[in-house]
Amino acid sequence: MKNSDLKLNANTLIYNITLIIFMLMTIYKYQYGCICLQRFNVILCTLCVIISYVLSKVAHLDEIRHENTLNINSMQGLDYGSAMAYSYYYGYLRIILPSTGSLNKGLVEKLENIEDNHNIKISVHKLFILIPSSSYIPPDLKEASYQWMEGAMNSEEEERNRAGIKRRTYHNTVYKIYPNGQKLKTIPLYIMVEGATPLLTFHEVQKHAHNETDIYKKYGKEIILKFYEKLKELISNDTECADLCELIYYNDYDNGTKVNVAKVILSRLSQIQKMNSENFNNN
Ligand SMILES: *[C@@H]1O[C@H](CO)[C@@H](O)[C@H](O)[C@H]1NC(C)=O
Ligand SMILES: *[C@@H]1O[C@H](CO)[C@@H](O)[C@H](O)[C@H]1NC(C)=O
Ligand SMILES: *[C@@H]1O[C@H](CO)[C@@H](O)[C@H](O)[C@H]1NC(C)=O
Repeated sequence: MKNSDLKLNANTLIYNITLIIFMLMTIYKYQYGCICLQRFNVILCTLCVIISYVLSKVAHLDEIRHENTLNINSMQGLDYGSAMAYSYYYGYLRIILPSTGSLNKGLVEKLENIEDNHNIKISVHKLFILIPSSSYIPPDLKEASYQWMEGAMNSEEEERNRAGIKRRTYHNTVYKIYPNGQKLKTIPLYIMVEGATPLLTFHEVQKHAHNETDIYKKYGKEIILKFYEKLKELISNDTECADLCELIYYNDYDNGTKVNVAKVILSRLSQIQKMNSENFNNN
């Protein structure tokens, strides 16, 4: 059913109900015509108006909800979120994650090289990708973590010739995380993590007054959720990438305060470690 049909139906329903109540009132008045009923009429009439108003509000809310799901899911992949997921997957993740035989090192080899060169242990051999529902990711994750995190080192650069750009380079960043933010007493954890860059681009688009800005703002949350869902599907379908990255979709503004991204990552780490030890015990 189309939106306009829905609205028409709701309006017809309200009109009919009002009409029936007025008819009943009129019949009642003619049969038992006494003066005390006139005051009763006023009360009934007011009540009628209130009921109609509430009904129309409810119908309208319903319509908005309907519109939301209708727009994004009926686009058969033409929506912004799905499109961002496909270009991020083919334009970036498929390039940096899997190893292509002897030609390019995969993510695991790059992580192992960092461990050897710096004599550290990286907690999980995966690339953690942050997908905050507000779409904003700061240039340095230190800012989003109340200083619990700091950039430690970059992975070696990987070169690819791509769309005419000769030896384009790609690299990722390993961060230190200090559990509880205590830099003096605790040993930091090491983890390779970054934000999903298309989200930042989407955030930038929304900051400017283009024709589409209002609609992007209105559907921002849905677009990002769609991006996450599509990306998750693409990665879990791909045996070469499924074990190499970990998507973290989270609400980065809880009750108006900025969530500490280090805590979000640490809680995912403990989930992974718990799952690994359960698998280990079962084997
Ligand atoms: C923006 O919208 C207006 C009114 O709908 C239209 O006239 C104009 O061409 C649009 N501009 C762009 C850049 O699409
Ligand atoms: C992922 O795999 C499922 C099951 O094989 C398939 O239905 C779905 O279309 C695939 N998704 C993508 C995005 O390729
Ligand atoms: C957010 O606010 C709600 C209600 O005011 C409260 O129940 C909830 O605990 C708050 N969440 C956080 C993380 O403070």
